[in-house]
Amino acid sequence: MDRFSGKVALVTGASSGLGAAVATRLAAEGAQVFGIARNRDALVAIQQQVRSDGGDMAIAVTDVGAYEQCIAAVAKCVEQYGQLDCLVNVAGSHRFHHTPEITPQEWRQELDINLNGPFFLCQAALPHLLASKGNIVNVASIAGLEGQPYSASYCAAKHGLIGFSKSLALEYTKHDLRVNVVCPGGMATPQIDNIQIPEDADFDLLMRSAALRGMMDAKEVASVIAFLASADASAVHGAVYTVDRGKTCG
Ligand SMILES: NC(=O)c1ccc[n+]([C@@H]2O[C@H](COP(=O)([O-])OP(=O)(O)OC[C@H]3O[C@@H](n4cnc5c(N)ncnc54)[C@H](O)[C@@H]3O)[C@@H](O)[C@H]2O)c1
Repeated sequence: MDRFSGKVALVTGASSGLGAAVATRLAAEGAQVFGIARNRDALVAIQQQVRSDGGDMAIAVTDVGAYEQCIAAVAKCVEQYGQLDCLVNVAGSHRFHHTPEITPQEWRQELDINLNGPFFLCQAALPHLLASKGNIVNVASIAGLEGQPYSASYCAAKHGLIGFSKSLALEYTKHDLRVNVVCPGGMATPQIDNIQIPEDADFDLLMRSAALRGMMDAKEVASVIAFLASADASAVHGAVYTVDRGKTCG
């Protein structure tokens, strides 16, 4: 498939897990990918892999929670490639806490990465996406659709991201811009490998959020994101796509 030939995609969280899978998939389909994340070494490794597969990827170390860095990343992407067609906000972080123990700093950090960053990037990218008749895919979570134990800040941020995305979609319904959300269930990625469950957590409550049909591969979610970012999804706007092997179907 060559759905992204001549298209430029900015992908956040491109150094790991789902973001790396999206960057790899879009590049394999012909996109020029501008990948951002915090960890330079991991980002360079993905860039090398994409390039060795014949793809085109530029990178910039960026903290999506920092407004100025988001503005700079969009500017660098457009400077490098001359346009922007797709913004895919994948970067995220999920910390588990007993709610009374979340510090103000931890609360703000989780909202910065999962909600404020996507907002800053959408705002900065909008003029370019309107010019290119492009689109946005924001990655939330099934934790943006339901409560999960020990995840108050993560759930609040992901619910907020869905609300923001739907509001943006409605505001631009009369323009050539599409905005969609993907809500993955459990994927086998470093985010899951690095989970630290708080002491004395109630196992029964935690199991309510567990994947029913096993963990997904990030590639299974990346393929849905690639569909939504492509012209194949030209009629899909303001949608909230669950990709969770049926976890939330009832
Ligand atoms: N893994 C899951 O089970 C799961 C389930 C539902 C939703 N999600 C969501 O999918 C997305 C990707 O998660 P993943 O599992 O691939 O995680 P991951 O930990 O493998 O990757 C996270 C990526 O986000 C980047 N990142 C984190 N904080 C950042 C910051 N401040 N600035 C810039 N980049 C930052 C990291 O550098 C990394 O590239 C996240 O939004 C996550 O919330 C994951």
